Amino acid sequence: MGLSLRCENLEKTYGRAGGPTQSVLRNLSFTIEAGEWVVLMGDSGSGKSTLLNILAGIDPFDSGEILLDGRSWGPMNDEEKTLVRRHDMGFVFQNYNLFPFLSVYENVALPARLVGKHDRQTVHSLLQEVGLGDKHAKFPSQLSGGEQQRVAVARALIHRPRLLLADEPTGALDHLTGRKILELMTLLHKEFRPTIVMSTHSLEAARYGNRILHLRDGQFVPPPGP
Ligand SMILES: Nc1ncnc2c1ncn2[C@@H]1O[C@H](COP(=O)(O)OP(=O)(O)OP(=O)(O)O)[C@@H](O)[C@H]1O
Ligand SMILES: [Mg+2]
Repeated sequence: MGLSLRCENLEKTYGRAGGPTQSVLRNLSFTIEAGEWVVLMGDSGSGKSTLLNILAGIDPFDSGEILLDGRSWGPMNDEEKTLVRRHDMGFVFQNYNLFPFLSVYENVALPARLVGKHDRQTVHSLLQEVGLGDKHAKFPSQLSGGEQQRVAVARALIHRPRLLLADEPTGALDHLTGRKILELMTLLHKEFRPTIVMSTHSLEAARYGNRILHLRDGQFVPPPGP
């Protein structure tokens, strides 16, 4: 079952004291229940990636609190954060962030290896499911953008994380391939009920989730009218 997620008065500003600053997240408070699939929408630059990277514990935030299953993220030391990330989280980054010196197979297998759950059959079948069964020995630089994105999705799901943070996971994919990936995510969501926070610009992709959160000017706002 997924992790629950609670943010209280989250603030994030870019820029330095004395220079121009940009307030990206303003006093943001929300709860995501365990097992929910929440979709983050909002214009380019509205802060979707910023929020996902903060939830992942990769980027710092200025103030507020993040609670994972009621446990505060902020005071955890790096070692504790690494353990939570490794065991409980999966990430699909907007720019994929694959390991360039690892093959497709090894990129996908790595998170499972790190938690002692590596199994060749599972890696190969997940690669089949994202349509890359024949590309397991290639390296990221030998793949198209959409293929790299599908490796990133497989890598994020291989260890069955309790929280999947996916930044535009179908952003680089054609319509049909995107749908296949969302259907795979739906299947896995039914099977092991991870909590999913996914950003997208696509209304069709957004419909796969349970609830949409619209970001504008650093806050969640009602969805834009027709
Ligand atoms: N490292 C950074 N330093 C300064 N400003 C940043 C940094 N990262 C992001 N920003 C700014 O924060 C704002 C939000 O960026 P973010 O990447 O979160 O937007 P987004 O909603 O993910 O957009 P997109 O849909 O284009 O991916 C942008 O205006 C961006 O310029
Ligand atoms: Mg983004």
